[in-house]
Amino acid sequence: MSKSPNSSYVKIFDTTLRDGEQSPGASMTLSEKLRIAEVLEEMGVDVIEAGFPIASNGDFESVAGIAHTVKKAVVCGLARAHKGDIDRAAEALQSAARKRIHTFISTSPLHMKYKLQMSQDDVHAAVISSVTHARGYTDDVEWSPEDGSRSEHDFLCRCVESAIKAGATTINIPDTVGYAIPEEFGALIAMLMNRVPNIDRAVISVHCHNDLGLAVANSLAAVKAGARQVECTINGLGERAGNAALEEIVMAMRTRKDLLPFETGVDTTHIIRASRLVSAVTGFVVQPNKAIVGANAFAHESGIHQHGMLKHAQTYEIMRPEDVGLTKSTLVMGKHSGRHAFREKLKEMGFDLGENALEDAFRRFKDLADKKKEVFDEDILALVDDEVVRANDRIRVERLRIACGTEGPQTAELTLSVDGDSRSTTATGDGPVDATFRAIRDLFPHEAKLLLYQVHAVTGGTDAQAEVTVRLEEQGRTVQGQGADTDTLVASARAYVNALNKLLVKREKSVSAMSA
Ligand code: KIV
Ligand code: ZN
Repeated sequence: MSKSPNSSYVKIFDTTLRDGEQSPGASMTLSEKLRIAEVLEEMGVDVIEAGFPIASNGDFESVAGIAHTVKKAVVCGLARAHKGDIDRAAEALQSAARKRIHTFISTSPLHMKYKLQMSQDDVHAAVISSVTHARGYTDDVEWSPEDGSRSEHDFLCRCVESAIKAGATTINIPDTVGYAIPEEFGALIAMLMNRVPNIDRAVISVHCHNDLGLAVANSLAAVKAGARQVECTINGLGERAGNAALEEIVMAMRTRKDLLPFETGVDTTHIIRASRLVSAVTGFVVQPNKAIVGANAFAHESGIHQHGMLKHAQTYEIMRPEDVGLTKSTLVMGKHSGRHAFREKLKEMGFDLGENALEDAFRRFKDLADKKKEVFDEDILALVDDEVVRANDRIRVERLRIACGTEGPQTAELTLSVDGDSRSTTATGDGPVDATFRAIRDLFPHEAKLLLYQVHAVTGGTDAQAEVTVRLEEQGRTVQGQGADTDTLVASARAYVNALNKLLVKREKSVSAMSA
């Protein structure tokens, strides 16, 4: 008979800062990661996987910084089944109030033969030694068989049993390549619950990738079969097609309690805030029809739907927008609002900025209110996110003046500050955006190729702020930058410069990784 867990509580393990950051172009700076970690903690996630400390000095510092800041959630660091990885993870997690080491090794025939070139017995021995070593640092140890969904059942059971015997308290089963189908993945979890004799001494977790668009369905099937932790990311960010989306997992369990009688600790009213922050920081724009957090997720366009909605919201609405933190666009303030009112508004929106950041944000709010009659909550969010995104930038846009229109040439006069030095130039181009980007290249020469330039409006109206995303690529390193302003060209310059700043961080990271 299958064992079933006593509790209906499902832990939410967020890996936006680790697996999410592994998606090409999604790299984040330390201050951006800290801000996201704060929002995740406020939201009530149980575990924050903060990074892979052995991967680079930057990753190590991010895990250490988050470990130092986060108080309620467990902070987790990833490590391969190597002593050096585990030591480095433990060192990064030293100051955490609650820490977890997550160690993994592949168990599928394909991975063992071609990637690891190790036999089953070698892998099994590494499982025991890595978990035992990690337990020397903390009694909260998670073990994952990478490519678990394509592993042979007998060998998987043997490794899971030994990992638990060696002290693993969470066993995470990944569908690393997003290959599983819900019935199959649920059956895999049920098989482990049935066959592994000491399974009741660990929490079963799942970690599903979305290559076939089934990450959320697979995760929910696993929960029905006994898993009590789900690994997921905000907006489904992650390698290739991404990971299971946190917001979809949590809202599915909340909305369909009749079929999914489980609880999580997530305060769902923080979902939109977290989604927008992750999108602003990574430059990964959320598709409009994305479930839960897309711009159209709660929009009812057709006449029939609108008519029904007016009579009774539940005719077409299965969740209330306010449950995910979507409030009606409220008018915030205008240009006469003072510093005090601005600070109060930020507090109400969940921001507690330090004096300098508050001063910068207030100055930008005043500039915005001068240009834009009505300032909405969304504008304030874009503005504050922009401050977070730009906090440690070495290159900044000081001044931009554009001449454009039907009579060319389109010209950009630009002043940048580079490490505190002002540099100015004038450049022409095929259109104002081209002229602006050429001016940036003149002032800060670089070889990076522009892969993507994308503009979207933060709110409606012709005076809306433009949010621009720029993707650059240099020697296989991809970065995305963002910029917001009522002037699309200023937003474009800020986005390009933000991407360049991220490239500089990446260059430094790879130099320090090479010399480590
Ligand atoms: O997808 C995967 O298998 C992983 C493991 C490290 C858990 O990310
Ligand atoms: Zn993964």
